[in-house]
Amino acid sequence: MNESAKNSFQTRKAKPSDLAAIKSGLIDSWTEHARREPTLLDEEQMRNVGVESYYKDAFESDKTFVFVAEVDGKFAGVQRADIQEIPHFYKDNKILYLDDAYVSPEFRGQGIIGALIKEVEKVAKERGIKRIQTRVYTYNKPMQRALEKLGYHMPHSSWDKLV
Ligand SMILES: CC(C)(COP(=O)(O)OP(=O)(O)OC[C@H]1O[C@@H](n2cnc3c(N)ncnc32)[C@H](O)[C@@H]1OP(=O)(O)O)[C@@H](O)C(=O)NCCC(=O)NCCS
Repeated sequence: MNESAKNSFQTRKAKPSDLAAIKSGLIDSWTEHARREPTLLDEEQMRNVGVESYYKDAFESDKTFVFVAEVDGKFAGVQRADIQEIPHFYKDNKILYLDDAYVSPEFRGQGIIGALIKEVEKVAKERGIKRIQTRVYTYNKPMQRALEKLGYHMPHSSWDKLV
């Protein structure tokens, strides 16, 4: 459990009954990504992602971890992480990959995503996983800032061109 000075928030494992709130937040985030990066993403396509089946699999998998934050019982944010294998030339090739980070606009700026990521870091420690990775779009300064505050760094970037 975590608490902040502004709103008292709590973190816990997500349950299937959180799905509607998670879905609404993720569609909000994904459509925003599409508006910011329209060369790569389509807003309508993002709106129609099958969040229910994607998360049904997540709740049943022993390789996926979903945490939510609440303020007074109200959904405030979500962070998902999946165990993944990355190429063997890396020193640590079993990683936890952070996906689906979202905090409701009214609760941003209070470190809620940091508290959720710390829950994922606890999972990593429990399972002997040494590396956590994520992808953040260049425009997304709030997420970059949140990760910096937690001690993450950006060892490389991806480059794109449509041909
Ligand atoms: C990115 C996001 C998850 C960060 O969550 P958060 O709990 O607000 O994170 P933090 O409290 O650590 O704040 C991070 C930065 O956001 C910015 N921020 C602060 N208040 C904010 C607000 N009300 N609205 C937007 N951004 C704000 C600040 O730059 C802050 O850094 P600072 O603490 O050095 O001032 C959240 O902004 C969000 O859900 N954005 C939309 C979805 C998204 O982009 N997800 C990430 C995909 S990779």
